[in-house]
Order: sequence, then structure tokens, then C-alpha cells
Amino acid sequence: MRHLIDFPDLSQREWQDLYRRFEDILEHPGDYRDALRGQTLASLFYEPSTRTRLSLEAAMQRLGGGVIGFSDPTASSVSKGETLKDTIMMVSGYADAVAIRHPREGAALAAALYASRPVINAGDGGHCHPTQTLTDLATLTRLRGGIDGLRVGLCGDLKYGRTVHSLLTALCRFEGVSVTLVSAPELALPIYTRRACEKAGIQMTEERDLRSAVGGLDVLYMTRVQRERFADPAEYQRLKDRYVLTLDILKGAGRDMLVMHPLPRAGEVDISVDEDSRAVYFEQARLGMVIRMALLLEMCKLPSFTPAVPQKKDGFACANPNCITHQEGYLPPLANAEGVCRYCEYILANLI
Ligand code: NCD
Repeated sequence: MRHLIDFPDLSQREWQDLYRRFEDILEHPGDYRDALRGQTLASLFYEPSTRTRLSLEAAMQRLGGGVIGFSDPTASSVSKGETLKDTIMMVSGYADAVAIRHPREGAALAAALYASRPVINAGDGGHCHPTQTLTDLATLTRLRGGIDGLRVGLCGDLKYGRTVHSLLTALCRFEGVSVTLVSAPELALPIYTRRACEKAGIQMTEERDLRSAVGGLDVLYMTRVQRERFADPAEYQRLKDRYVLTLDILKGAGRDMLVMHPLPRAGEVDISVDEDSRAVYFEQARLGMVIRMALLLEMCKLPSFTPAVPQKKDGFACANPNCITHQEGYLPPLANAEGVCRYCEYILANLI
């Protein structure tokens, strides 16, 4: 592992080592108080965040390290037109690891091209969010003993929900996982995530009715409809309350089913559900800080490297208008052999 752009950057062995470290930190927090003393995390948040930013920053501080960065890009040189490349090259000289959240898909990979320190993707547009996935897997492993064989329901915004995309990519690694997708047809999974699941042989079922889906699940992962990704506010208004988990719906679920949510919620989990012992989303958020401590321990100790930026050649224009390549025009076009943009994973168009 050099950067964490999405979960597949970790080998299964690295994930298992992170998990063991996570358990050890929970058991012996005092042993880690000075583990990163003198080290610095750069926390570059170009988009709002509560849990991810605060948990990363708290994780660094609990390890004895320091944090620099911004949570409001208008207060940084971004507002003067500084490119992502310049910001990252400069910050690599100040920090031992760089966490970045950005509204555009592919921004974390773009940052990694120019970084000489490890980049942690803290969420890139509607694309992926691997530290949330570490949180989700750690929570499931701790509370359920493992991931293999789990029946996982995912409900809400499967199209723009980056936590869903990264979680599904990770579930592909485990044995016998089955997935039930509950969403409005307009908010169904993007093709790249669906393909990854099909390739891994994950059994996928689609359900329109949450009440009939919950009966056969070990975990229900609820998500917010991502208002900020909609071009048309009326479309958001039409879809936002399609699925709401209530205590009444939970009556149809097993006594051991976990209710998870990356948070924030925007009405899709009724607050009365908080009192039910199956609701573990606040515990999930707490554990997220601890798994991020385990991650930072690994990332900060990596040696510096010289980034090798591919040459810019004319080749493609990504069909995704929100791809980072449309904002940062100097980026080299990158596509895989199947014609998929490596920054944001959309199928390329306008091949030249
Ligand atoms: C998620 C995100 O930012 O993608 N939140 C988080 O990181 N815990 C989910 C969301 O915003 O809906």
C-alpha cells in the first residue's frame, strides 16, 4: 500500500493486519499515546464533513501527532485559483500523510499522482470512500465475528452514495456474501460497482420494498439521498423520502440484524430506531476513529517517494462532467484496457 484511493489498494493481508491493530488499540489505548509524536497529518477538506474529518484528526491526535489543513477551501489558496497539483506538491513537504476530501470524482487519484507522501481518500464526489469502508468492515467484524457469508442489505442512494460503492468493492473480497439492493430505480448502482460485484460472483437481489427486504438480512446499511449530487433539486425532493426505516419496519427483521449508517442521516432512519439495540450507527462512528488510528500508523511510517506522473497525451475526454479531469486540465488522461476512466471509473466517451 502506498496510497488508499479505494479499498482494493489494500491486500487482504494488510486489511487483516489493520484489523488486528484496531483490536489492540481498543484494548491498550495507552500504548499508542506517543506512537506518531512529531508526525503531521494534512487534512484537506474541499467538501463538508463531520465524522470523517473529525475522526481522522482525532485519530492523529490520539497517536500523539499533529494536524494541519483546512475544512473550508474558500479560506485557502484554492480560492485564488491554486491547482490541486500545486497544493498537493506543497503539502507533501509539510506532512507525513495527506487526507483529501473533494467534490469531484477522481480527485484523490489525481492528488496521488503528485504526492510524495501517502494520500488517503476521504471521499471523492460520488465515487468512493475507503476509510468509511474500513469503519464498516471493522464494525461488522467486531460485532459479527467476520464478513464471510453475511447477507447485507443496502438501502437509499446507491447511485451517488460513495460509501456504498466502496463497501461493495470490499465485500467482493469475502466468501459467500449476498447483497440485497433497495433503491428507487433512479438511484440504482453505477455500472462500475455492479460489474465489480458480478465479476466477484456476489449474489445480488433487487427489492423495491424495504419491509419485505429486512426479513432475510444480517445487516441493513441505510444511506442518505445525496442532495449535493443532484443537478435537479426537484428530482431530489421527489426521491428523498422514498425509504424511511421505522420501528414498525424493524419488527419484520431478525433480532440480531444490525442497522448501520455512515451518517449523517437526513430522515431515512427514524430517530425512534436509535433506542433499538440493533441500531449500531453511533458505535460504528466511534469505531471509525480507531480503525483510522490503525491506518495512520501504517501510512505515516511509509518512506517518501518520487511521484512518477504519466505524460499528458491527447486521448479522451471523460464522459462524466464531474470527473476531476474537467476541472484540472493538466491531468494526463488515464484509462484502463476496457476504456474506463481510471480517475472516476466512468466509461469513456469521445475517444480521439
Ligand atoms: C458519508 C460521506 O461523506 O460520503 N459520510 C461519512 O463520511 N460518514 C455519507 C454521507 O454523506 O451521506
